[in-house]
Amino acid sequence: MFENEGTVATEQWMKTAICYYSRHHGNTLKVLEAMAEEGKVDLIDVTTRQLVRLEEYDCVGFASGIYGFEFQKAVVEFARQYLPQGKPVFFVYTYGGAKGTGAKAVAEIAQEKGCPVLGEFSCKGYDTFGPFKLVGGIAKGHPDTEDLKHARQFYRAIQETYQRGESV
Ligand SMILES: Cc1cc2nc3c(=O)[nH]c(=O)nc-3n(C[C@H](O)[C@H](O)[C@H](O)COP(=O)(O)O)c2cc1C
Repeated sequence: MFENEGTVATEQWMKTAICYYSRHHGNTLKVLEAMAEEGKVDLIDVTTRQLVRLEEYDCVGFASGIYGFEFQKAVVEFARQYLPQGKPVFFVYTYGGAKGTGAKAVAEIAQEKGCPVLGEFSCKGYDTFGPFKLVGGIAKGHPDTEDLKHARQFYRAIQETYQRGESV
């Protein structure tokens, strides 16, 4: 059902929750805010106390900076506790230069719960951790305009996959 050529009617948009942790420079949150411009997206900070009803969403994203070569543990625990069985999921992360295991820990939980994976997006994020601070940080300026453009494209692509009802 299309409103205009190339424009999906808003009522067709999937309802998405993205459960995230973003602390170092808010890099991951910038990426998520760009994605959220593309559809019906609620951003859920996993460190705030709130009523969580992920059952009400069509799709759930998990997002984090990479800290010590992996996703922040609070995001992984959040997925373990609240991700409903069989819910379509996707993963997002930003990293300074060495992504390590990336989204592996949350992907394993999704697999245990029989959740189809719609996709994964990652990009560089400004990093001044430890010794990098001495040199003014690495991945300066990231996420940049191109990164955010790719983030929007990614979200639109998984939304289209969902709308077509394609298996992933
Ligand atoms: C404590 C700490 C550990 C980090 N460890 C890594 C790492 O192992 N690999 C990496 O590429 N970047 C690492 N970084 C950089 C972050 O992944 C990067 O800056 C990311 O964009 C931060 O996301 P945020 O601003 O959303 O918190 C680390 C940053 C911090 C503060």
